[in-house]
Amino acid sequence: MKTAITRSEQLKAKPDETKLGFGTIFTDHMFNMDYTPEKGWHDPRIEPYAPIPMDPSTMVLHYGQAVFEGLKAYRNGEGGTQLFRPQENFDRLNRSCHRLCIPEMDPGFALEALKELLRIEEKWVPSEPQTSLYIRPTVIATDPFLGVRASFTYRYFVILSPVGAYYAEGFNPVKIWVTKDHVRAVRGGVGNTKTIGNYAASLYAGEEAHKAGYTQVLWLDGIEQKYIEEVGAMNIFFVIGDEIVTPELSGSILPGITRKSVIALAQHWGMKVAERKISIDEVVAAHEAGTLKEIFGSGTAAVISPVGELKYGDRILTIGNGSVGPTALKLFESLCDIQYGKADDPMGWIEPV
Ligand code: PLP
Ligand code: COI
Repeated sequence: MKTAITRSEQLKAKPDETKLGFGTIFTDHMFNMDYTPEKGWHDPRIEPYAPIPMDPSTMVLHYGQAVFEGLKAYRNGEGGTQLFRPQENFDRLNRSCHRLCIPEMDPGFALEALKELLRIEEKWVPSEPQTSLYIRPTVIATDPFLGVRASFTYRYFVILSPVGAYYAEGFNPVKIWVTKDHVRAVRGGVGNTKTIGNYAASLYAGEEAHKAGYTQVLWLDGIEQKYIEEVGAMNIFFVIGDEIVTPELSGSILPGITRKSVIALAQHWGMKVAERKISIDEVVAAHEAGTLKEIFGSGTAAVISPVGELKYGDRILTIGNGSVGPTALKLFESLCDIQYGKADDPMGWIEPV
């Protein structure tokens, strides 16, 4: 398939790169492609960034049949643009599609199309420290129909947004609130996919945490509400004694690409890493015993997000004096150095645009 290109006639002013937040500014162009049962995925095109007109009955608006991805393009030291493990995102997009009854697409084509879009939007990749161009591939169900079934037609689109830090705290430790009243996902559900309803389902507990003065929610498993799953929209790691522990992928946890990279890097450095069940009681006990050294989240948006405080019922646990721990710092710096091309890429994770 060949991607048709229509250039925007009016280019937007570029933002002040020193003041970038997250996800508010969008570039001049987007990628679009459609699916019908007759033609399959077809009509790939790069066009001016524009609204998507929709009939009010469009299925995605009613039943949430949609999936998305999140990755970033980084400006490297030579002024070029590069991606971090992008094929992993397109493979995960297809796994999400499969679970949501959405037809999969050719992941190699999706990556090539993204690179084509990025080459057109090259000037939008910011170069200030810790900035990047956030990439949001999305698939939505487009049949105008109110019966509950899988849609026959779909739209795939990719939009781009120059970003700075995801959390206002930046790389400073965040305060986390453990919820026992709500769960994010259950075994057999869709927690291991990047489908839009997961984020809607997380909002209520997130707002409760904010009202109590906390940044994010720590999610426990949906069955026993005992085992730790994720933190906000990130995977979670604990340093207990000399071991790094992260919840095993249970079916209700999103298999993060940053999570996978953290595990690989830590093992590469000779550190002990365990993927296993970890209960909130074990974390409290390790804190009491003085063996809980660090907690941090991992995700594309924030990379590594250290946790300084955990509130669980009446207990408030201060983690590592509330400051950034050495493991979180080393992982953050090493991942960023690879992503921005400041260090060698021993694992072959970088993909030039
Ligand atoms: N967990 C959830 C629910 C997420 O939305 C994300 C973000 O993509 C992650 C974890 C981290 O995944 P990744 O490292 O691939 O960004
Ligand atoms: C992440 O990249 O870690 C995220 O969770 C992205 C979020 C904006 C959905």
